[in-house]
Amino acid sequence: MTTLRINSDRLWLSLMQLGQIGATPKGGVCRLALTDEDRQGRDLFIEWCREIGLEVRIDEIGNIFARRPGTDPDRRAIAMGSHIDTQPTGGKFDGNYGVMAGLEVLRTLHEHGIQTEAPLEVIAWTNEEGSRFVPVMMGSGVFSGAFTLAHALAATDTQGLSVGDELQRIGYAGTHPAGDVPGGMFEAYIEAHIEQGPILEAHDLPVGIVPGALGQRWYNVTLSGMEAHAGPTPMDMRHDALLAAASLVTKVNQIAMDHAPHARGTVGYMNVMPNSRNTIPGSVAMSVDFRALDDATLLSMHNALHSHAELLQRHDSKLSIEIEQVVYFPPCHFTPTCIATVRQAADKLGIGHMEVVSGAGHDAVYVANLAPTAMIFVPCKDGISHNELEDAKPEHLAMGADVLLHAVLQLANGGKS
Ligand code: HGY
Ligand code: MN
Ligand code: MN
Repeated sequence: MTTLRINSDRLWLSLMQLGQIGATPKGGVCRLALTDEDRQGRDLFIEWCREIGLEVRIDEIGNIFARRPGTDPDRRAIAMGSHIDTQPTGGKFDGNYGVMAGLEVLRTLHEHGIQTEAPLEVIAWTNEEGSRFVPVMMGSGVFSGAFTLAHALAATDTQGLSVGDELQRIGYAGTHPAGDVPGGMFEAYIEAHIEQGPILEAHDLPVGIVPGALGQRWYNVTLSGMEAHAGPTPMDMRHDALLAAASLVTKVNQIAMDHAPHARGTVGYMNVMPNSRNTIPGSVAMSVDFRALDDATLLSMHNALHSHAELLQRHDSKLSIEIEQVVYFPPCHFTPTCIATVRQAADKLGIGHMEVVSGAGHDAVYVANLAPTAMIFVPCKDGISHNELEDAKPEHLAMGADVLLHAVLQLANGGKS
C-alpha cells in the first residue's frame, strides 16, 4: 500500500485556514499560548477532529488528545502531534505543521476506511513555545512529569496573569489527569516539524530523520544597580545595571562561540527599568537561552555565565546579579527503533532524507522520557523560523506527512493497511 498518500491540498488548506487565526500583516501568526487566538485555534482543531469521529479529551494542563480507536483492545496508542501556540512574530508552520500532519494522517485513513490494530492519537500540546509562560514545552513537560502541574499552573506572564487562570478563561482547563493515556502510555510517538534551520534546504532534501535534540538551560537574570540622574552623576560613580547587562549579553555570545560548533547562546528578552533616556538604568531583567549537544558542555556554559556575573559584581559592590535557572533538560536521544521505522517509511516512498539533529526543543523531547519517540523534519524557506517570513513548500509538507502516515501504519499495523 505504498501508493497510499495523504491529501496535500487538504493539508495545505488546513494550514492556511489555521494560519488565519492570529494572522499578522506581514504574513505571520501571533497566537500566544492561552490567548483568545489560541482558544480559536484549539476550537477549530477540535471541530476538525470531530468531523472524522475522533474522541477528544483535554487534560488538566489543556493538552488536547484526539483519538481514533483501534481494532485490537490490547494495543496502546500510536501518537502524533505538536503545538499550535506560536511566537509573537511566529509563522504558519512551526508546531502547526505537526498537528495538521497528524490530523491529515487520520483524515486519510478515515476517507479510505482503513482500520488500524492500535488506536491512533493526534495531540496539540499546551504552550510549547514558552514565550508568554515559562517553562517552555509546558504541556508535554507536565504530561511527562518534568515538572508538576501546580508549578505550571502557577506560572505567570509579564502582566501577572497565571496559566491556571488563563486556562479557565479560555475554557481549556481540562479534567483528564495529566500524564494519563487511556489503555496505557503510547507505544510510540512521532512528531513532524519544520526544521527551522538551513540544513535540509542546503542539501536539497525533503525529509530529515531526527536522532535527537540539543539540551537546553534557560535563565531569568535580574541585574540591580542604582537609578540616578544621567547628567550630574560622574561616570566613575555610577551603578549602571544596563552597562552590566550589556557585558553579560556579550559574554553569553562568547560562551557559545567558545563551545562551537553545536553550542548556542541567546539573549532574546530584556526589560530595562525605568527605561527613561536621562535616567541611569537601575535594574534590568533579561533572559539567557543556552543549548548544547552534550550535558558537560551545557554545564560548562552554565558555570561560565555564573563566573562572569561574579566578576561584574566584584567590580561594582553596589551591583547585584540574580540568576534563576528556569528550564533545564539534557540533550535528548530519540529511540533507534522508532528512528529506523521513520527511515524505512521514507525509503519505501522513495523520499530523499538525511539525519538532522534538532537545535530547537520540541514536545517530543519530553515524550521521549515515556515512550519510543522519533521526529520527522521538512525544510523551511531559507531555514527561517520564529519569524513572520517562515515559509515551506506544499510538496515538502506533503512528503513529510506521507512518511508520518507510513511510519504510523508500520507501528500500528505492522505495515499492513
Ligand atoms: O525554543 C525552542 O527550541 C522551541 O521553539 N520552543
Ligand atoms: Mn515548534
Ligand atoms: Mn517554536
